[in-house]
Amino acid sequence: MIKLPAETVAALRPVYDGRHVCVTGGAGFIGGHLVDALHALGASVAVIDDLSNSNAAHVAELLEFEPDRLKFVHGSILDERALAEAADEASVVFHLAAVGSVQRSIAQPQRTWTVNATGTLRVLEAARAARAKRVVLATSSSAYGDTEKLPKHEAMTPRPLSPYAASKVAAETIAGAWSRAYGLDTVCLRYFNVYGPRQSAESEYAAVIPAFAKRLLTGRRPIIYGDGQRSRDFTFVTNAVLATLLAGAKDQPLAGLVLNVGTGKRTSILELAEQMAALAIEGDEAGVAAEPEHRAERPGDIRDSLADIALARKVLGYEPLVGFRQGLADTLAWCRADLASTGGG
Ligand SMILES: NC(=O)c1ccc[n+]([C@@H]2O[C@H](COP(=O)([O-])OP(=O)(O)OC[C@H]3O[C@@H](n4cnc5c(N)ncnc54)[C@H](O)[C@@H]3O)[C@@H](O)[C@H]2O)c1
Repeated sequence: MIKLPAETVAALRPVYDGRHVCVTGGAGFIGGHLVDALHALGASVAVIDDLSNSNAAHVAELLEFEPDRLKFVHGSILDERALAEAADEASVVFHLAAVGSVQRSIAQPQRTWTVNATGTLRVLEAARAARAKRVVLATSSSAYGDTEKLPKHEAMTPRPLSPYAASKVAAETIAGAWSRAYGLDTVCLRYFNVYGPRQSAESEYAAVIPAFAKRLLTGRRPIIYGDGQRSRDFTFVTNAVLATLLAGAKDQPLAGLVLNVGTGKRTSILELAEQMAALAIEGDEAGVAAEPEHRAERPGDIRDSLADIALARKVLGYEPLVGFRQGLADTLAWCRADLASTGGG
């Protein structure tokens, strides 16, 4: 479970305590941590998830612990009845359900569009019907595509390189239009490469940090697509959850605003592999055993990613809490324990 500093908890508890909120995709990686934090802040949380990229284990644990403040709707955001049940009474809807991964979207463009774009429209309609005050949407740094300059800031024109990125830009466009047409307040958080405990390493579309962790901890070399010079603004999940809670708590209307949520620092994939190897493998063997295996570059992957977080700082008072080294160490510790408990491999 992620830890928020006492002063953050003191500031957010009065906002969320006793409040009804809805989290779409709440059985997933970021959604699960958000649900934990909202629950700890005293909110009543309704989760809707179709479990297409997660399982019910974490939500089930919470349900057992406190059934009165958690509701789980096993269903799709494309199903209006299931959505209405989840959004009922919610004053804030956190919309995180999506078909994730650039590479999955290249293989499944129509499904990606239907869930991420049409699904967002359905979530906004459900929020409107429930008279929610705000919808906080998880969108993505992939919206920017390759820009000439770094860091990437919100005034840059989006240039999606993949169906996933296009679907997220569409979601932002729809959210802005719903704010202007219906007065439903929305805010879009462009998450930059979020990582941390409980992120899945299970599919061929796993994100780079869990994929590297799994290979390194099971004695295999990490796989790098391309030369490893691509860089990313890796954002520990606590930071993403903090920004999301602040966005849901903001008093003033946000009116479809798009905000970067990253750290303002970047790391190349090669550096990432080296740092993870040093943490994962003891002694002098590390360099040899962890020598990355290079494969062909993949379409849709952007070259560099680095967030300008000045706007999120100004609007939300967002300041990253956990740095890269600490975040990696915590993530690897969790992956190690998880592999040990599941038998690994
Ligand atoms: N992890 C990242 O680095 C990152 C970066 C940018 C944006 N995001 C966005 O943040 C959000 C959460 O991402 P995550 O990393 O936790 O991914 P995740 O796959 O762990 O979580 C998404 C959840 O949505 C659920 N879902 C998918 N389709 C659904 C549907 N039709 N109806 C209901 N539930 C459905 C999945 O089962 C899963 O539990 C997503 O919107 C993602 O696009 C993530």
